Order: sequence, then structure tokens, then C-alpha cells
Amino acid sequence: MSKFEKQRNVTVRDIAARKGKAPVVCLTAYTALVAKLLDPHVDLLLVGDSVGMVIHGLPNTVGVTMEMMILHGQAVMRGAPRACIVVDMPFGSYEASPEQAFTNAARIMRETGCAAVKLEGGRVMAPTIEFMVKRGIPVMGHIGLQPQKVNMHGYAAKGRRRDEWDDVIADARAVADAGAFATVVEAVAGDLGERVTAEASNVTIGIGASSACDGQILVTEDMIGLFATTPSFVKRYAEWGAAIDEAAANYAAEVKARRFPGAEHTYSMRD
Ligand code: KIV
Repeated sequence: MSKFEKQRNVTVRDIAARKGKAPVVCLTAYTALVAKLLDPHVDLLLVGDSVGMVIHGLPNTVGVTMEMMILHGQAVMRGAPRACIVVDMPFGSYEASPEQAFTNAARIMRETGCAAVKLEGGRVMAPTIEFMVKRGIPVMGHIGLQPQKVNMHGYAAKGRRRDEWDDVIADARAVADAGAFATVVEAVAGDLGERVTAEASNVTIGIGASSACDGQILVTEDMIGLFATTPSFVKRYAEWGAAIDEAAANYAAEVKARRFPGAEHTYSMRD
């Protein structure tokens, strides 16, 4: 048995079976250390392409590469033995054709050992999702706000006007009918999140899409308050940005005053 073949506690089938049941708890992770800390608390960890912005300082997710996703996917797999791990397909790695999507998804799964991949897009990606699922790749969809299309549509929430609803609902249905086991629904009006969850036959994972979704996900670094500002749909459960700032300032002051290192942090002679 290879290092990847050990059965995880939470599988794609477990997640798929949660439609209409207890909410699926999801967060993002990019490193082994954070994945290990989150693993006992979540059903699913997403190695999101948000890694490009959060860890690598990119302006958006468009510049994220296959190599970045595979490296971070491997790290998260090593850190989290329990949760179902899903790895994002980066921009440009799946849109050209179903064959391109299958080849790159298979590489991600083979080289990381993750359970599934996620890709952005509604009706336009449905034939690709069907092609992949029929050939053994579990797929998570992503509709509503699609960050990889920032250069076309920006980051505006969807469905705050009634005439935007039909598109989002049709996308949700198409992705579910194509065989995606779950769909991330990002930044849509609360009532639309509820409607999409009722209409889609698969599990909906909301991020700014209301508590009616079958599960929730947040970017962990948003949730723990590492950024000065966060989108309005983020609840900050901690203020680690402020805590790191305070710790670094205290450290700098003590180093400058020669109060650190003290005797307790200094090696003494043995004899
Ligand atoms: O890349 C990511 O972190 C995501 C989540 C915001 C769902 O796609």
C-alpha cells in the first residue's frame, strides 16, 4: 500500500451523503501545520487557489500554477490524516477541453493523493465535469462569484437583483446534474443561496451564500483575522493579525533593550 492509499475517515461519498443533513464544515488550508490544527474540527479541507493571494502575495488567483497547487496539496495531505482533501484546479488548467481537465486533474490526484478537485464555472463547465466524473475524478463545482474570472467580472456578489437569479440557478443545476458531488456557492444573495440549495441535487457549500447551504467554507486566514480587512461575509473568530503585530513589536523592543534573550533562554555551561 502506498503512502496515499490509507483510507481517510471522511470520504467524498460521506460528503455527498450530507445533502439536507448536518452542515458540512469546511475550511481552506495550504500548509501541513495549519492542516494539522484544523483537521480535528472539519469534514473537508480545501487547498484553494486563494493560496496565491494568501501565501504568495499575488494580486488575484489568475497567476496560480499547477506546481503551486500540487506542492501545497502534498503539504496539506501530510498534515491532515482525517478530513476529505480537495485541491483547486488553477486558472488555465481545465477550461480548454475535457481532455485537458482530465489530464491535469489526474496529475493533481496522482501527485498529492487528494480525494477530489474543484473547478470554477457553471453550465459552460458541465460537459467537462461529466467527462471527468465518468472517468473517475470526483469534482467539486464553484458557482456564483468566480475569482478566476476577476478580469471579466470583478468581485461583485451575484443575485442581489432578481434578474440575475436564473443564471445562477441554472449553473447550480447543471453542475449538480453533471455529477459534481458538491458545489461551492460564493457571494450570492442569501435568498438565492437558499433557492440554489433547494434546486441543486448535490451538496452546496456556501461562502457568503447564507446558512441555508448544506455546508460552509471560509478562507482560514480571513476567519482568524490575519488580514486588516475581510469581505463582509467573513466572521472573524480570532484576531491573529493584531496578535502577531503585538508579539513582533514586543520582541523588537526587548531585543533592542537587550532584555531578550534572558538567562532562561541562554545555554549555561555544563560543568
Ligand atoms: O480558493 C479558495 O480558497 C476558494 C474558496 C474561497 C471557496 O475557492
